[in-house]
Amino acid sequence: MKTIHVNTSRPYDVHIGAGLLKKIEELLPESVLKKIDKGAKTVLITDENVNEIYSSDVEESLEKIGFDVLKIVVPAGEEAKSGQWYLKILSCMAENHVSRNDCIFALGGGVVGDLSGFVAATFLRGIDFVQMPTTLLSAVDSSVGGKTAINLPEGKNLAGAFYQPKAVIMDVNTLDTLSAEIFADGCAEIIKYGVIWDSELFELIKENNLTKNRGNIDLMCGVISRCVEIKQKVVSLDELDKGIRNILNFGHTIGHSIEKNSEFEVSHGSSVAIGMTIISKAAEKKGLCPAGTGKLVENLISDYGLPTETDYSRKQIMDGLLSDKKIEGTTINLILPEKIGKCNICNMKINEIEELIFGD
Ligand SMILES: NC(=O)c1ccc[n+]([C@@H]2O[C@H](COP(=O)([O-])OP(=O)(O)OC[C@H]3O[C@@H](n4cnc5c(N)ncnc54)[C@H](O)[C@@H]3O)[C@@H](O)[C@H]2O)c1
Ligand SMILES: [Zn+2]
Repeated sequence: MKTIHVNTSRPYDVHIGAGLLKKIEELLPESVLKKIDKGAKTVLITDENVNEIYSSDVEESLEKIGFDVLKIVVPAGEEAKSGQWYLKILSCMAENHVSRNDCIFALGGGVVGDLSGFVAATFLRGIDFVQMPTTLLSAVDSSVGGKTAINLPEGKNLAGAFYQPKAVIMDVNTLDTLSAEIFADGCAEIIKYGVIWDSELFELIKENNLTKNRGNIDLMCGVISRCVEIKQKVVSLDELDKGIRNILNFGHTIGHSIEKNSEFEVSHGSSVAIGMTIISKAAEKKGLCPAGTGKLVENLISDYGLPTETDYSRKQIMDGLLSDKKIEGTTINLILPEKIGKCNICNMKINEIEELIFGD
């Protein structure tokens, strides 16, 4: 097992290893465990798919420690990150007299993590929560860093809070049951960390294709830990996303536009994969990174079965990009690779971005 300390305003540990769903007691911080004496309960929030496979292990683990468990199961997929489900969960917790002394456990992918985190941040003005990510994307990205949110009819993640968990417990065995597509989605974020920060990670996942090595616990633990280390470094420097945290958005500006254009039919990972390829090739064409960088990114993404191209037109991509919530006035912080393992944040005007991506 690996443990990574995240040094944010509310510090916490991320534990990554096999079989951890059954070892929760050993991994919870003292501040949560000591509440059992005062009769604390836990609220286990999960989705219907994850519930079927993993919640009994977690319930048993929590009950063994002495916690009462109130389980709330939401639908699988993005629809659960809604105002309706958010309010339903708050009401259910209020009806069951959940108090400030209690703790939420979010068992699932990024949807359950983001939704439960926002519930935790706001119920009684904030109660403890623990992230238990079960997708590769949530393991390497959404469970660490404290961004929580729900979607509004007007757009994704428009209501949310920065709220750090008390711990993150990532059982790599849960990755066994992910579909190939959802597993690959997480791989796109891992490729992102390689390009923006860590050329060794880039080489490692090139030599050992994770889609063919899912069962290799040491490899998976090592790669996930490396990504969490990078995210923790970046987030601890810029918890509130006003500066360097922007680099985690590599490939995402175009990616979000593709997601939006497809009405979210193209997955996040696939959209970001296309975004990373387009932007790396554009940066290379402008001489901003060494010759061959675009091809290196494109080849790795293809090796992972992820797409590298889109049929959306220049106008569709630009229109989608203009509706990005990260837009500040008339400029966007675009993340450009300087070489594999290093990137730069470039504040660019919309027309400069259009010129960079599509030429004149
Ligand atoms: N907070 C952040 O910093 C951050 C960062 C990136 C993404 N996100 C958010 O994360 C969400 C996407 O997360 P996701 O990709 O994990 O999607 P998800 O939570 O919808 O999970 C994808 C699917 O996999 C299923 N699933 C989960 N774990 C499983 C397992 N172990 N075995 C079998 N099936 C399993 C789920 O039921 C769901 O159907 C988006 O809402 C996005 O906005 C947040
Ligand atoms: Zn992403």
